[in-house]
Amino acid sequence: MKEEKTIPNIKELSSALLDSYSDPQEVERILNEVHKHFQELTNLSGFDQEIKHLAAVPTATGMALSLNYAAQCLLDYKRTVQFLRGIVAAIKDKQKELSGETVNIFYAGCGPYAPFISLVAPLFKPSEVQFSLLEINDESLESAKKLIDALELSDYVQDYHRSDAVTFKFSEPEKFHILFSETLDSLLYRESYVPILGNMLGQLPESIGLIPENVVIKASLFFDEDKEKQGETVFDTRQALTLHGRTAELPIEFPLHIFNLREDHAAKGLVLDTEVHVYGDIKLIRGESILTTPYELLFNSPMEHTKVAFAYQLKPSVELTFEYQ
Ligand SMILES: C[S@@+](CC[C@H](N)C(=O)[O-])C[C@H]1O[C@@H](n2cnc3c(N)ncnc32)[C@H](O)[C@@H]1O
Repeated sequence: MKEEKTIPNIKELSSALLDSYSDPQEVERILNEVHKHFQELTNLSGFDQEIKHLAAVPTATGMALSLNYAAQCLLDYKRTVQFLRGIVAAIKDKQKELSGETVNIFYAGCGPYAPFISLVAPLFKPSEVQFSLLEINDESLESAKKLIDALELSDYVQDYHRSDAVTFKFSEPEKFHILFSETLDSLLYRESYVPILGNMLGQLPESIGLIPENVVIKASLFFDEDKEKQGETVFDTRQALTLHGRTAELPIEFPLHIFNLREDHAAKGLVLDTEVHVYGDIKLIRGESILTTPYELLFNSPMEHTKVAFAYQLKPSVELTFEYQ
């Protein structure tokens, strides 16, 4: 006999998440419950140890997170709730701007649980929001489809694409109102958020809403006794892409940012922070998520250098490089 699975009330869980976003314990409790449902419906957990689910997938520029780690992102609690708040706010803003027209969302890198449709769609009607999903990992896309079907959300989906977001060509770019792509790691290391935006923003309308809106890397000098000097931006994704030109082919390396050390002999080192500007004033800052884990560069003592040159590069590997000068 075919086993009947009860459909969890995701609308209720999602609304509860939005209501209690500032209560970390409640957010954790609700997301653990969501994870339990998603795991049952897909037969995939963020914690299985199958080797093929642990390996990152190469993209045209950068690497895509493995299926397993992509599933685990759901349980990066503050990240998930802030992104949920961000996308819901962006949809509501677009609804006002478009006077009730259907809001079309392109979801690049949905992962196996596609949380930014599976938690979001139940809050709206299919006439209000429509999603197109793209994922490079076959099994993740299959799992996302399975979950969406099981949650009876297929009326919200226009298309599924198994493709690389770094090279994907839209057939009807003008119809999209929001691009969602959480394809990043702290320090914008390895994952392809920057090349994905480089490819997609050049094709989509200038009025496209983007989530996350921006990712910025800052460097701050730190001294003894936890004292820190205010951070200076060493890489700003949106600014770098705008300066480079919307449709120009991406460079191998973005222009250098020189950080001057001259007057700070007492500094112990630099701390590098990733700030994720999700939407409007919704942000993730140091320590709030895996995406915003800080990274310390300790100086030799006594300090022999006067500058650090930072550059964000796309080839041969996607990462922020630095050189003491
Ligand atoms: C950090 S996970 C996030 C998963 C899910 N959207 C979430 O927020 O929980 C990023 C997902 O994007 C996919 N991805 C990364 N780079 C990609 C690319 N260039 N093209 C298509 N998918 C990509 C990965 O395979 C992974 O499933």
